[in-house]
Amino acid sequence: MKEIILSKFAEIFGSAEGAKAYFAPGRVNLIGEHTDYNGGHVFPCALTLGTYGVARKRKDNKLRFYSMNFGHLGIIESSLEDLIPSKEADWTNYPKGVMWAFEQRGMKLPCGMDLLLYGNIPNGAGLSSSASVEVLTGFILRDFFDFDLSNQDLALIGQYAENHFNKVNCGIMDQFAIAMGKKNHAIFLDTADLSYEYAPIKLEQAKIVIACSNKKRGLGDSKYNERRSQSEMALAQLQQITPIATLGDLDEEAFERLKDHIQDDICRRRAKHAVYENRRTMRAVEALRSNKLELFGQLMNESHVSLRDDYEVTGVELDTLVEEAWKVEGVLGSRMTGAGFGGCTVSIVRDEVIDTFIQQVGEAYMVRIGYEADFYVVDIGEGPIIL
Ligand code: GLA
Repeated sequence: MKEIILSKFAEIFGSAEGAKAYFAPGRVNLIGEHTDYNGGHVFPCALTLGTYGVARKRKDNKLRFYSMNFGHLGIIESSLEDLIPSKEADWTNYPKGVMWAFEQRGMKLPCGMDLLLYGNIPNGAGLSSSASVEVLTGFILRDFFDFDLSNQDLALIGQYAENHFNKVNCGIMDQFAIAMGKKNHAIFLDTADLSYEYAPIKLEQAKIVIACSNKKRGLGDSKYNERRSQSEMALAQLQQITPIATLGDLDEEAFERLKDHIQDDICRRRAKHAVYENRRTMRAVEALRSNKLELFGQLMNESHVSLRDDYEVTGVELDTLVEEAWKVEGVLGSRMTGAGFGGCTVSIVRDEVIDTFIQQVGEAYMVRIGYEADFYVVDIGEGPIIL
């Protein structure tokens, strides 16, 4: 891959002299959905799929961007004096947002760059292609200009850019999972204080299979921000009667005791999901640690039901993929992953039924939805690297 992207860089930008190649992964979340902005736990892992980048410093302040995924857009030009979000900037709003965030934090960028990207994460699939580009950009800037930043700092800068430049009010999960990824491990992250542990994922005779619904959506136009404010409203009402900082502070029992103080039924259901999903995630990690893979799978299934019925972020496409997956014997667990409203599902599937799974779920999806789903048997990879 390194040779391919370097030669493409040379083709697009004249030569590849002085250019360096990088990679940052995408991510999949195993369990703990819509908990990261509610002070709860998440359990994502980095993938071996991700974003490749080639970058070279310039002598001026110009920024020249090219994506092999959006070749028809050609080179998109900008400059360090123009770090403002715009429709015309298209996908370059992600790297520009990170550059802007560096400058906001007092890290002046001494010169512009030429940057070529190639991603093999399916676009808009909910595997965090945008967070991957953000972390990759931060990683390149740190490498170019020797900023004293940890990978965790890169995650926070990426989230800051997403929140304030691209105006998606996302939590920290995606950028953290990408910046902190570790081969064959998932990250058990407490989003209340960013403490985390790596948990080895040894699936023995099973694999992680991602099914992509191919229903396109971006977080910007989804109901993501709305879900977030509904959770915040529920929290504000609970805070009038009990001293909690986040919904993650409650266990199920405390929630049941206090829930009637949330006036609106919708907000009450959103909060219920946040509380139960957080506890479910803690139990799931415990199950994995004691090698109870079947229990882990059941908790994944329960997570989907809660996202479908209480948080209402699934939709017919994701429900079809998951409900068909549940019918296949040898599927340990299946649920939607990421923000929802389209995107993809994650399933743990025993090796001997992977082909049947892809065929059966694929056919049923086609019949019900009318277009194809795509399937990826994935591996858990490292965080960002210099190639
Ligand atoms: C998106 C956001 C994350 C998280 C998930 C839902 O991926 O970027 O911060 O909230 O949705 O769990």
